[in-house]
Amino acid sequence: MLLGVNIDHIAVLREARQIADPDPLDALSIVKRAGADQITIHLREDRRHIRDSDAENIVRLSALPVNLECATATEIIDSVTDLKPHRATIVPEKREEVTTEGGLAVTGKQKRLKRAIHQFHDNEIEVSLFIDPTTESIEAAKALGAEWIELHTGKYANIYAMLYGNLGNTPYAIPELDLSRSTLKKMLLEELKTLRRLSCDAAEMGLRVAAGHGLNYQNVKEIVEIETIEELNIGQCIIARSVYTGLEQAIVDMRALMLR
Ligand code: PXP
Repeated sequence: MLLGVNIDHIAVLREARQIADPDPLDALSIVKRAGADQITIHLREDRRHIRDSDAENIVRLSALPVNLECATATEIIDSVTDLKPHRATIVPEKREEVTTEGGLAVTGKQKRLKRAIHQFHDNEIEVSLFIDPTTESIEAAKALGAEWIELHTGKYANIYAMLYGNLGNTPYAIPELDLSRSTLKKMLLEELKTLRRLSCDAAEMGLRVAAGHGLNYQNVKEIVEIETIEELNIGQCIIARSVYTGLEQAIVDMRALMLR
C-alpha cells in the first residue's frame, strides 16, 4: 500500500510566525528516506500554508512524485498546470474551513470540474478526485476520465473517535450526539462496509483508489485491510507525532502499520 505524506502542516507551523522556518522543502529527503511513496501538498486559494514558491520548489526538487491538491478556481488550475506535478487531486475548498471538510459531490455536469480535468490531461498531469464515498460520485468520476479517486475517510475517522475516545484529528461533520457504544460500533462497521464496497466498485471500473483524511495511528489498520485501496494520503497525525519522534520515525511508524 502506497503512502503519500501530506506536508502542509509543516508550512502551517511556519506561517504561525510568518517566517522561513520550518521549511517544508527540508522534508523531501526525510520523507523519501523514511520509505514513503509520494509528497502531497495542498495549494489553497488563500495560500494559508503552502505558498506558490513552496509548490514550485517541491515539484522541482522532489525525488518522489508530487500529488498537488487544488480546488477548481481558474487561477489555481492555471498555477497547478504550470507547476506540472505528477498528479493533481481536485478537492472542494471553503475559505472558512479549518481543513478540507468533505469530498466533492461529482455529478459529471460541473463545467469547472470538466474544464480542470481536461486542462490537466492536456498537460499530462494525472487526475484524482477527492470524493465523498458515494456510487454517484464514483460513476461520475469515471465518466469524467479521472485516473484516481480519493475516498474521504473523515466520517469513518469521526465515528472511530467517538467510539474509542479522543483520538480523532478531523473536524469533519462532528455530530453533537450521545450515541451508545453499540450504535457507534454499527455505524463504524457500516462506514467500513461502504468504503470497502465502493473501492471495489471503483477498482472494477478501472479507477485507482486512494483514501485519506483524519486517518491516524489508531484508526488506519481497518482501512489498510481494504485491498482495493492502493494509497493513503496522511498528514496531520504524522506531522504532530514528528514533533516528539522526528519526521522520519513518525513516517516509519505509519509505514509499519500499513503493511498488509
Ligand atoms: N487527502 C486530502 C485530499 C486532503 O485534503 C487531506 C488534508 O489536507 C488529506 C488527505 C490528509 O488529511 P489529514 O491531514 O487529516 O491526514
